[in-house]
Amino acid sequence: MAIQPERARKMKITTMILCASVLTALAVPVHAAGDPRAGKTKTSMCAGCHGIPGWRTAYPAVYSVPKLGGQHAEYMVSALKAYKSGERNHPSMVGIAASLSEQDMEDLAAYYASSYTGESN
Ligand code: HEC
Repeated sequence: MAIQPERARKMKITTMILCASVLTALAVPVHAAGDPRAGKTKTSMCAGCHGIPGWRTAYPAVYSVPKLGGQHAEYMVSALKAYKSGERNHPSMVGIAASLSEQDMEDLAAYYASSYTGESN
């Protein structure tokens, strides 16, 4: 028995919907994109140093704190991972990065990348 055109069309649509939902389900964990709004709520532990224009930390030596606003998100995530893994070893940032999950890093980076104001950190 031949499949009627109407039925074939429905099957095709069903297949497409199934494929799309499978792809969406797969895409989420692989591409954990940062959410700038979630990032903003996590900046309280960064703002003490990165929120003050021209701020210098006094430990372990007088050191200027890099500006994060407008920095590339990918760069910030890789810098944070490098602090967490010990590849970069500034004491202030190692302690901070150790407490961040990968999602926190993505969210914070997305927020800072989108928050460039031209004057503050
Ligand atoms: C105690 C002060 C302090 C706090 C709090 C702090 N940072 Fe930092 N951060 C620094 C300093 C100092 C550096 C530069 C260290 C270096 O040269 O490796 C730095 C570097 C960085 C860098 C690398 C920037 C670059 O240009 O390479 C990123 C990204 C960063 N911080 C993100 C954060 C985030 C996100 C938070 C909050 C979760 C945070 N920091 C909290 C002091 C701080």
